[in-house]
Amino acid sequence: MTAGGPLGALEASGLGRAMREWLWLYPSVEIVHITGIGLLFGSIAILDLRLLGFSRSISVKALARHVLPWTAASFLLIVPSGLMMFTAHATDFISSPVFVVKMSLIMAAGINAALFHAITFPSVGVWDAEEMRRLPPPPSVRLSAAVSLLIWISVIACGRLLAYF
Ligand code: HEM
Repeated sequence: MTAGGPLGALEASGLGRAMREWLWLYPSVEIVHITGIGLLFGSIAILDLRLLGFSRSISVKALARHVLPWTAASFLLIVPSGLMMFTAHATDFISSPVFVVKMSLIMAAGINAALFHAITFPSVGVWDAEEMRRLPPPPSVRLSAAVSLLIWISVIACGRLLAYF
């Protein structure tokens, strides 16, 4: 039995029913979600650790150019699979505070990344220059990286906690 309204309609859709009824579909989609999360967190964490001041022999600019396309690609795995799982139990998920916190945190991570790219990254040529790399990056850069790591770890925690709350 599914609830009414647009979320109820989602649950009652062919996709919603298949997600609940086909034994291997939900777990397979969840594996895609987790693979995407691995790619997202793996790529972003490597850059954040560099921005915190580790591995300073590597240029931030070169590292960002290498890892950020993978971070972007990870959303192609994460978002469709997340939406598919959402479709299966839309009304339950939307009424879970953990789900609301998770979505808010994802938005906060986006805002943090946008602020970093708009405000802090344009000066990368200065603090990433080879002669400057004896010093750690400026405090605003390190703060942004620490916030990013904390937010993404919290998103992962909320995702896992969805099964319990
Ligand atoms: C963008 C970064 C995201 C991260 C890091 C993330 C993280 C996670 C994690 C760790 C899980 C638990 C997997 C498991 O226990 O096997 C999960 C499950 C889930 N995620 Fe995400 N997620 C993200 C985005 C999304 C999006 C955009 C949606 C879309 C609505 C979504 C919807 C879900 C749903 C419905 C579950 C299933 C919970 C369950 O069946 O217990 N996630 N997520």
